[in-house]
Amino acid sequence: MSSGQDVKILAIESSCDETAAAVVVNGRDVRSNIISSQIDIHTLYGGVVPEIASRKHIERINQVIAKALETAQMPLDQIDAVAVTYGPGLVGALLVGVAEAKAIAYARKLPLIGVHHIEGHINANYIENKELKPPFLCLVVSGGHTHLVQVKDYGVYEVVGRTRDDAAGEAFDKVARAMGLGYPGGPKIEQASYRGDADAIFFPRAKVGGSEFDFSFSGLKSAVLNFINGCRMKNIPVAPEDLAASFQKAVVDVLVEHTMHAAQQYHADQLAIAGGVASNQVLRSSMEAACREQGIRFYYPSPVLCTDNAAMIGTAAYYSFLAGRRDDWTLNAVPNLKLGK
Ligand code: KG4
Ligand code: ZN
Repeated sequence: MSSGQDVKILAIESSCDETAAAVVVNGRDVRSNIISSQIDIHTLYGGVVPEIASRKHIERINQVIAKALETAQMPLDQIDAVAVTYGPGLVGALLVGVAEAKAIAYARKLPLIGVHHIEGHINANYIENKELKPPFLCLVVSGGHTHLVQVKDYGVYEVVGRTRDDAAGEAFDKVARAMGLGYPGGPKIEQASYRGDADAIFFPRAKVGGSEFDFSFSGLKSAVLNFINGCRMKNIPVAPEDLAASFQKAVVDVLVEHTMHAAQQYHADQLAIAGGVASNQVLRSSMEAACREQGIRFYYPSPVLCTDNAAMIGTAAYYSFLAGRRDDWTLNAVPNLKLGK
């Protein structure tokens, strides 16, 4: 290593619509966290267009990496390893980050560490909560994933529940689109909800047969869409704020109920949330209240570390680095990469 015992990792994330790079020292010390969002472009189409995402990553990745190194005041020759998200995500988008990381690692003769995107989201909790250590239970709720994960140790995960259909964030995005609120839907629905009545409309809380910790959001999404269409056809006015608040409550109720049920079953005394939807204040405060009632310590990352970023990838890579995990030049993008068991 270049100096002392510090491990300085350059991390790259390009799995969806953010081009991101970060410098992370010893896993929890984030020296830079640069995010170039493509949201403005994808908003024009109402969602992420994969081909546009890949092209924008190519255009921006070198500048984003240069900015991350410059902000951290860390030239490449002081970096000890290069980390990159290699799945799950959009294949063309992932490939840009993976090719870039491989090129830098090869040219600089540095170790290369591929990181699972969901592992990154979970590890975001370590950055600001210096005392947090495994084991803990983590609810990962993003645009592409809804997973309940037992974090048994650093880098050791067991998925105990997952969505059978839509991800929680996807449901927010689709409902927001039907309401004409635009993309991404989560923050728009949350803002509208503060002016609405969450008990105005009752939407079903889906139970899934088989696994008690699995989720399903497509029924709820259809119920909301049917409600909107029904009101339009009958010319019944609906307050969008009430609709947003009532839908959000249905999602939050299910997330909290299943997570607390799993916490009891697995005797968790620490619980964390992660992913874009984890920045939702209503989810945070409901989960916090439920944890307080059960005597469980509750953790969550700042909003900027909930949505896609590279700092979380650098944190996850640090624990892989300590465990001796290295990738070789065959590392490839894996769009449907699985986490743990
Ligand atoms: O983690 P993320 O940035 O990307 C994925 O890995 O998918 O999550 C993005 C998702 C989007 O679906 C977005 O609508 C949702 O997170 N989201 C929110 C909020 N902020 C972002 N959902 C609910 N409330 C929010 N405040
Ligand atoms: Zn994500």
